[in-house]
Amino acid sequence: MKKLGGVVAILVVLIVAIVIVVKRTPRSPLAATPAMSSRTPTEQAEYAARLADCVACHSTAEGKPFAGGLKMGTPLGAIYATNITPDRDTGIGNYTLAEFDNAVRRGVARDGRRLYPAMPYPSYAKLADADVKALYDYFMHDVQPVSQPNMKNELKWPLDMRWPLALWNVAFFQDATYRAKSNSDAAWNRGAYLVQGPGHCGSCHTPRGIAFQEKALDEKDDLYLSGALLDGWYASSLRGDAKTGLGSWSEQDIVELLKTGHNLHATVYGSMMDAFNNSTQFMTDEDLAAIAHYLKSLPARRSEQPFVYDEKTATALNAGDLNFPGAGTYLKQCGFCHAADGRGHGKLLPPLAGNPTLLDAEPASVINIILNGAGRIVAGGVPDSYRMPPYRVLLSDREIADLATFIRTSWGNDASPVTTESVAELRGSTDSTSDRVIVLKMR
Ligand code: HEC
Ligand code: HEC
Ligand code: HEC
Repeated sequence: MKKLGGVVAILVVLIVAIVIVVKRTPRSPLAATPAMSSRTPTEQAEYAARLADCVACHSTAEGKPFAGGLKMGTPLGAIYATNITPDRDTGIGNYTLAEFDNAVRRGVARDGRRLYPAMPYPSYAKLADADVKALYDYFMHDVQPVSQPNMKNELKWPLDMRWPLALWNVAFFQDATYRAKSNSDAAWNRGAYLVQGPGHCGSCHTPRGIAFQEKALDEKDDLYLSGALLDGWYASSLRGDAKTGLGSWSEQDIVELLKTGHNLHATVYGSMMDAFNNSTQFMTDEDLAAIAHYLKSLPARRSEQPFVYDEKTATALNAGDLNFPGAGTYLKQCGFCHAADGRGHGKLLPPLAGNPTLLDAEPASVINIILNGAGRIVAGGVPDSYRMPPYRVLLSDREIADLATFIRTSWGNDASPVTTESVAELRGSTDSTSDRVIVLKMR
């Protein structure tokens, strides 16, 4: 009897503790900012929104900017991004600065609703007060109000309950702005701030755990930016890994990719194309240099030998030797753009030899781009003249598997073979006419 009483007492304490955590509204340090304080100049305010890429999720290709409606797939159903235009009835027109701050940095909406971490508030938590104020000014003054009611999420129990998110936050969320490291230089600190905070690069590039939490939020853990699979795209390692990461890239190579969409090693594609089209190309040269400087400070996680080009494949292909599975298809369908030597042509037609996204153990991005092609890169308002075509209709799962294996193991590339099953699975989940669609694009 006594034992039972003890258990009940513990349960009661536990439930009270949970209720307190769930009911608690966080306090924003910006609550004390005078309402009449002067607004951030438009250009600076817009830049804050570009850095954080709010438009990528809160708009759809056909819709008005920031009116919401983008469907984001999760294994348990779909979440829709909301209307964040200053419309008072359907958007965030009634938000005070402190309420906006709680949504962006702490994941709590004006009505106390906990937001799903599909909204990257775990990264935005690092934003400086001044940037949150700039964002607020941008949305209140520079964005056109649009009357568009929000879509209802399509989540299955238990994910449709929001209160457990408060407990998720206790386990995984750190409510702390970025703190500069005094033993690192100013560019490194600026880069770390941009990558971890507004840029939320880790939301795609850091592996996630069982509760969908990013396994690391900064460089203290070597899982940070070590590569992750999301929405059918593999966001490769941004660490110093010699072959599968940025080990062989210079800081200038990284700046060039983020600024123009291309460099001599690779091109942006898949979900990175959205990050490029909407965000990184608008960053100043100084900010991009800071990002590159920070990324190049992250040591390799895997011990790899650097890529070494091997002439064998090109010699065989040029001699008409098509004895490896996939080689014939490669010459017929791909060689025209990517060349028999796998080196591509200049910066617009990327090399496949030594390309980090081909060398990774995880082949999803390679399969996905062969099946579905690439979206349009738009740099400085000008759409790309070359584009990777889709082969979904033209090639079978077997042919794509052979082809993907061929390009992952030729010219010195030494990645694992690709199975027909992996191709079949991605074909199904990226088919826009199936109900298993996992959202091809973040925007
Ligand atoms: C990766 C996608 C993504 C990005 C980037 C993103 N959001 Fe969100 N945001 C969401 C989703 C999804 C929701 C709805 C979450 C839910 O229903 O729990 C949301 C909800 C919100 C809300 C709550 C609005 C309400 O009352 O319903 C605000 C405010 C907001 N976002 C502002 C921003 C701002 C400002 C930025 C840029 C700094 C931003 N978001 C960037 C996905 C995103
Ligand atoms: C929406 C998801 C997403 C976000 C956010 C994102 N990336 Fe990526 N990134 C990807 C994917 C997928 C790839 C692999 C395809 C490619 O190479 O373009 C990639 C590739 C890259 C590459 C090229 C790597 C290579 O080896 O080819 C760099 C560099 C990069 N990202 C930097 C960044 C930085 C810096 C940020 C933050 C400012 C960022 N990414 C944010 C998805 C994302
Ligand atoms: C018409 C020219 C063209 C053809 C044909 C073509 N590609 Fe591409 N490919 C591109 C371009 C351009 C990109 C860069 C993404 C973009 O801008 O569309 C690309 C990107 C890629 C990438 C991602 C590399 C990276 O990091 O940027 C892979 C893998 C790839 N192609 C494989 C293939 C395979 C396999 C075939 C044959 C089935 C093929 N391509 C046929 C033009 C082509």
